[in-house]
Amino acid sequence: TNKNIAIAIDGPAAAGKSTVAKIVANKLSYIYIDTGAMYRALTLKAINQQTSLQDEKRLSELLSTTKIDLEQSKDGQRVILDGEDVTLEIRSQQVTNNVSHVAKHASVRREMVLRQQQLANKRGVVMDGRDIGTHVLPDAEVKVFLVASVEERARRRHEENIKKGFDSNLQQLMDEINQRDQIDSKRETAPLIKAADAIEIDTTSLTIDDVANKIFALANEKL
Ligand code: CDP
Ligand code: CDP
Repeated sequence: TNKNIAIAIDGPAAAGKSTVAKIVANKLSYIYIDTGAMYRALTLKAINQQTSLQDEKRLSELLSTTKIDLEQSKDGQRVILDGEDVTLEIRSQQVTNNVSHVAKHASVRREMVLRQQQLANKRGVVMDGRDIGTHVLPDAEVKVFLVASVEERARRRHEENIKKGFDSNLQQLMDEINQRDQIDSKRETAPLIKAADAIEIDTTSLTIDDVANKIFALANEKL
């Protein structure tokens, strides 16, 4: 029998979630949904409009009139904010270092979770984020919580930056990752936490293919 399932991948920053989520989605011909990109897009818009990131009411009003589309293209996922391609802009250091402040607000999360659940309405989905297994898709057939040491995660981001020809400072990356994880883990609404029924995978000494194969195997058990 061929049924479609939902695969939830959560974990701290730079644990490898999106990289392996894309591989698993491709292997299964499932759609991939990057929920972090949605919080990043709203953060970019708030910064551009000079909306205070502490002003929950203004931010949720802003979100209510904001269109965020995730498009699958041949060179990966494109993020479209109110009709404009912001795929690159949402990865800027400014957005990265502010997104957790936007994502901590309860009313912003409520709307984002609704949108994400609609996107995942049909099964056959791999979704990554911080609260997918706990709140967005609590009934997901496969739940994975990816972790890795902060040194390894910073090293991976550093390597990625160098490869792209960006300036990069390893110590600074480690500090920024630590700070973001702290805010994400300590917020009141849907903090970053492993779902009780999620399987934790420590990727510190695993390759991308190792991790993807493990998740693929978990999916096949359910299929
Ligand atoms: O890829 P990276 O680990 O750098 O982060 P991301 O997945 O793009 O998520 C960016 C930020 O959005 C996170 O640090 C969280 O503050 C927030 N986020 C969230 O709160 N809930 C989600 N489901 C996804 C992201
Ligand atoms: O989505 P998330 O922030 O969790 O991480 P990512 O952007 O998928 O991965 C961060 C970096 O780690 C990427 O450059 C991956 O190629 C790399 N990576 C790795 O080196 N080994 C793994 N087992 C997983 C990811």
